[in-house]
Amino acid sequence: MTEDFDVRLVENAKYYTPGAEYKRDSWIGDYQKAYDRFLADPVAFWNNVAQDLEWIRPWDSVREWNYPYAKWFVNAKLNITANCLDRHVKNNRRNKVALIWRGEGGAERVYTYQRLLSEVMRFANALKKLGVTKGDVVCIYMPMIPEQIIAMLACARIGAVHSVVFAGFGATALNMRIRDAEAKIVITSDISIRRGKAIPLITIVQEAIDNAPSVEHVIIHSRRREPPVVIHPDFELDFYEIMNNAERECPPEVMDAEDPLFILYTSGSTGTPKGVVHTCAGYMVGAYYTTKAVFDIKDEDIYWCTADPGWITGHSYIIYGPLAAGATIFLTEITADFPDPGIWWKLIEEQKINIFYTAPTAIRMFMKLGTQWPQKYDLSSLRIIGSVGEPLNPEAFEWYYKEIGKERCPIVDTWWQTETGMQMITTIIGERMRPGFAGKAIPGVVADVVDKTGTPVPAGTMGFLVIKEPWPAMFRTVYKNDERYRNYWYTIKDCYMAGDLAVKGNDGYIMVLGRSDDIIIVSGHNIGTAEVESALVSHHAVAESAVIGKPEPIKGNSIKAFVILKLGVKPSEKLTQDLISHVRKTLGPIAVPHEIEYVDKLPKTRSGKIMRRVLKAKEMGIDPGDVSTLDE
Ligand code: WT7
Repeated sequence: MTEDFDVRLVENAKYYTPGAEYKRDSWIGDYQKAYDRFLADPVAFWNNVAQDLEWIRPWDSVREWNYPYAKWFVNAKLNITANCLDRHVKNNRRNKVALIWRGEGGAERVYTYQRLLSEVMRFANALKKLGVTKGDVVCIYMPMIPEQIIAMLACARIGAVHSVVFAGFGATALNMRIRDAEAKIVITSDISIRRGKAIPLITIVQEAIDNAPSVEHVIIHSRRREPPVVIHPDFELDFYEIMNNAERECPPEVMDAEDPLFILYTSGSTGTPKGVVHTCAGYMVGAYYTTKAVFDIKDEDIYWCTADPGWITGHSYIIYGPLAAGATIFLTEITADFPDPGIWWKLIEEQKINIFYTAPTAIRMFMKLGTQWPQKYDLSSLRIIGSVGEPLNPEAFEWYYKEIGKERCPIVDTWWQTETGMQMITTIIGERMRPGFAGKAIPGVVADVVDKTGTPVPAGTMGFLVIKEPWPAMFRTVYKNDERYRNYWYTIKDCYMAGDLAVKGNDGYIMVLGRSDDIIIVSGHNIGTAEVESALVSHHAVAESAVIGKPEPIKGNSIKAFVILKLGVKPSEKLTQDLISHVRKTLGPIAVPHEIEYVDKLPKTRSGKIMRRVLKAKEMGIDPGDVSTLDE
């Protein structure tokens, strides 16, 4: 993959330094000073951050590191919802707005901290009444609506482990996740609404719970009055009915620091997704700290992260981080281009958004559509703009900086992962920014670019992005598959291997180049090649398949599938359409191949492993590099 890397990017240093004045009153202050403070005494550094939060019992030690296993805030007791909700209600801020939600068609709902707490407690009691107790897994499959957040927080309130599945996934993907986590309850909505269309979720859930014996109840939040949802009374329940019949008060469950808080599935290099497990205390401290340090949220700010709460970005930077910091969050299910591509800028003007966090794929889409859309609206409320999910290429950086930030707002290009739980690399506001480069390790994090042996590579040389010390929000295991957890730490000596390729500039800034493994990032969504391959192979006409990512200007990558058909089956346009709808049904619309090519054989190693790298190189017209293991 060395081929796509252009060394000129590293040599032509170009910097921007907006928002230098922000530094004076920012939460983190001067980057280098903060980083030095951390390096001098990491334990004192995190000890100090954790003091901001409320604990039922303090910790005996900040960190216990037993490679590759870490414990943070050992023996402390806490509940994250007490920090996200009760703490603000008690501190005279019960009337502060926690959440503003906008639906398509103009519906708006506003939740103060008090109201959010009340609804979370009620729903928590409703779950309790159904027999949900600490440690039980609850699967949440809902659109971007306040009830999704209420459901998540209600789980955390009683110590149930939420496993949120993004509502763009199909029945098979959902079934796999329900079964792996042995979810007792599934919470869903009848429909989600996208671009004016209702997309049924309940039918997908009904299909997905077939063959999932752990599921005792399905809770359905009904958005549509007509036709009303028909509830199967033996196991389906109505969201608001059970909530309204529940008790009001629900004290937070006492959680140990290392009790699991949630599972979140992410694509891996095999067909089965990984259940990334995060725990209560470390995750809370990491999400809270980075929200303050990176976004520098002030009391009067309105903050908008465009992610779905069902992804890690939403978990950490719509819900847990911002609420722990007492922020006002804006949430909407409105997509960036409906009814027209000005809608997000209109919302920024209307809501006077101060901090805006989105993804490169959205930025590149806006770039393509032209500057007339953002120019129609007043974006002067913006103070900080952010990016996450994949590399923010220099062209997209420049556009975002000029057209949205008006050369005034710092851009925080934040590199992190589902596994890291919190942001790890960025350019702290007020520091000079370098297009194409995410920046440096956030104080609290030790990151580097190394070769296979773990030796740091010189500036300008591509290597593997690694993390060298444990951090509080690090995942603790892969659910029911600890070996997959250990793999992250045992591939490169003494390092957590992120799976990304990167390069460092002479200034120490890190440019993330993309994945080094079998994961394709399409519009910011992680898709495992193996997942798409096994979905294709599950079709009766397919004998074998190999899937690659092809660079694409807006989505980042598009999915191309090579398919070998079973003997006697002939390729046809109809079959291609069939295969596409088969993948859509099993994995969901986000994993659908954009292109299918029928082939007679696939490049494989002598041990039978498909060499996707060779397919990719051929596709892009470049040299595949070392093919000595290829079986002719
Ligand atoms: C992968 C993690 C973390 C929230 C969203 C994705 C890529 C993420 C950046 C960035 C370059 C990035 C990496 C990473 N990625 N942020 N700022 N610059 N690449 O979480 O689904 O776990 O994906 O997303 O390849 O490994 P995720």
